[in-house]
Amino acid sequence: MNSHKRPEDDSRAVIDLVLFGALGDLSLRKLYPALYHLDREGLLHDDTRILGLARQELKGEGFRKRVTDALQIYVKASELDRAVVKRFTARLDYLQLDFETAEGYRAITEWRMSARHETVICPLVVYLAVPASLYGGICRHLQDCGCLDELSRVVVEKPIGHDYETSCEINDAIGAVFPESRVYRIDHYLGKETVQNLIALRFANPLFGTQWNQNHVSHVEITVAEQVGIEGRWGYFDRAGQLRDMVQNHLLQLVCLIAMDPPANLDADAIRDEKVKVLKALEPFRENTLGRDVVRGQYIAGNIEGDGVPGYLEEEGANLESETETFVAMKTGVSNWRWAGVPFYLRTGKRLPEKLSQIVIHFRQQPHYIFDPDQRGLATNKLIIRLQPDEGIALEVLTKDSGLDRGMRLRRGPLHLDFGSAFPKARIPDAYERLLLEVMKGRQYLFVRRDEIEHAWHWCDSLIAAWQDLGEPPRRYPAGSWGPVASIAMITQDGRSWYEDY
Ligand code: BG6
Repeated sequence: MNSHKRPEDDSRAVIDLVLFGALGDLSLRKLYPALYHLDREGLLHDDTRILGLARQELKGEGFRKRVTDALQIYVKASELDRAVVKRFTARLDYLQLDFETAEGYRAITEWRMSARHETVICPLVVYLAVPASLYGGICRHLQDCGCLDELSRVVVEKPIGHDYETSCEINDAIGAVFPESRVYRIDHYLGKETVQNLIALRFANPLFGTQWNQNHVSHVEITVAEQVGIEGRWGYFDRAGQLRDMVQNHLLQLVCLIAMDPPANLDADAIRDEKVKVLKALEPFRENTLGRDVVRGQYIAGNIEGDGVPGYLEEEGANLESETETFVAMKTGVSNWRWAGVPFYLRTGKRLPEKLSQIVIHFRQQPHYIFDPDQRGLATNKLIIRLQPDEGIALEVLTKDSGLDRGMRLRRGPLHLDFGSAFPKARIPDAYERLLLEVMKGRQYLFVRRDEIEHAWHWCDSLIAAWQDLGEPPRRYPAGSWGPVASIAMITQDGRSWYEDY
């Protein structure tokens, strides 16, 4: 978004959406349900059409049937409206295509012409729900077949590369065809309702605006815990590991949104410039403190909610020698005036006891303390931002305990904003709904710019190199636990603990 218009000012826009990987997991689970919901909410223009592309041969209504089946699985029954399904699937066409050969791409132009009986000029949005190794080739073929113009946009999924170098190769290949202003790199965490709310919370509330710095914040915690394992993705995951899969993108984006300075306005580049400054200021890891400040783990068999689950090395397709991490906890920081000396504790892992994504901002104690000395440990405020499940924000405050015998004893209690109960009629949209809508409108503020990806890789690459030098295998943790014991020691050695009031 390069204008100074407020985001809400745009009305819905017509697009031709061409979806590569139309029968893949991402499309079936996330993209069609998201597009269906947009249609249901009246946010898809009547003239918007969708062309699904995949290698498989599908005849007649085969594609529409596959999408209808997916909607039945992935959209709640109470939200499935037959008339909308019919209207939505009528927008769909299918083309069998071998993505790696130029022949066949012409059919995309033909589809655009035929789908529009009168020539309606509208942007072509190309969504690449395929492995990143195919991005460059597809972009080139699209260009060669002449179906792109100065309005065309491309949407790409993570992971963009395996490290800094490979991410540059991929970005170069995309950039040879699409200028940065028309590249939409998805980090689906940026589309989550509460993540968006971080911007509102920080920059619309003077209460927080004035407190958001090292004078008032003692430390920041980010937990992104997953109950799932690797869900049959051994091939991908074992090469990536939790650092590349979750920290390089989702957790660092959260760090950026918490730590960035206020942007001058809500323009995409104003926001992204501030995020890049944070990524550049991330503290590098030092050899002598690496063992203390970073913990890598790998799950072994355990129990989640009463069910036994296999260990990482017992997953389908596993290589028994693998030392890939499925858990990472780390203490890092942002070296600038605002955050100097404030630790950021991050942890994320697979097969943890519950699915929970949460940010906790711990505020400092009052400079002068007048209550019972044994309650001193209680005496800080915490702002808890719950991304999922049960999206909401709570501010933990201290009040006087009630009762005649309690004197001036303090009690912790939340000032709580639970989105579900505060806005009972509002459905919380899935991240992909918001992101797809933003692509249609041509606004980039929720997408990751090339330099963000590259700075994030720089930082992760240096950590991976240091791990390799250290040569220590990951610590084992039983599935269903909160990770290796060392991840608890990592924070307790600073006299703190992971926030546990969930
Ligand atoms: C993806 C990762 O980006 O995010 C997955 O590749 C992970 O491994 C997923 O499970 C988590 O997303 P969410 O929205 O369920 O927290």
